[in-house]
Amino acid sequence: MATPKHILVINGPNLNLLGSRERQHYGSDTLPAIESRLVAQAKQAGARLAAFQSNSEAELVERIQQAGREKVDFIIINPAAYTHTSVAMRDALAAVGIPFVEVHVSNVFAREPFRHQSYFSDLAVGIISGLGAKGYELALAFALQYSKRS
Ligand code: DQA
Repeated sequence: MATPKHILVINGPNLNLLGSRERQHYGSDTLPAIESRLVAQAKQAGARLAAFQSNSEAELVERIQQAGREKVDFIIINPAAYTHTSVAMRDALAAVGIPFVEVHVSNVFAREPFRHQSYFSDLAVGIISGLGAKGYELALAFALQYSKRS
């Protein structure tokens, strides 16, 4: 039997506040609720999913490096505010070479100009922005059927 696909979901700063934070942009779903739906969705497909959130850039870089050592197959990442600033997280993703989808709950292109710049998008397999919490589920559906050869 093939080893189960190992998927990692990473959320950056302030996403622990989903559900109470600026609901006009981010809706009312909480991060634990989103993560438990993703775990169930992965399990149903016979995959393993781990979720990580941090407000610290250093911890996020460490977690990406750890994913490289763990041979994670695919990353779903919402770098949050670090999307627009973090060369360090970009470099970590480039270093581990794990394919990833960049997710944003809000439509960053319909917001302030500084949110239109991402240090991740050109390295990402693709981007989902503005579909609310559903964006994570759609990214996971993609990750579950993704193969490097496709
Ligand atoms: C976000 C968009 C970012 O601009 C913002 O800093 C966030 C969340 C989103 O999910 O829409 O914290 O990544």
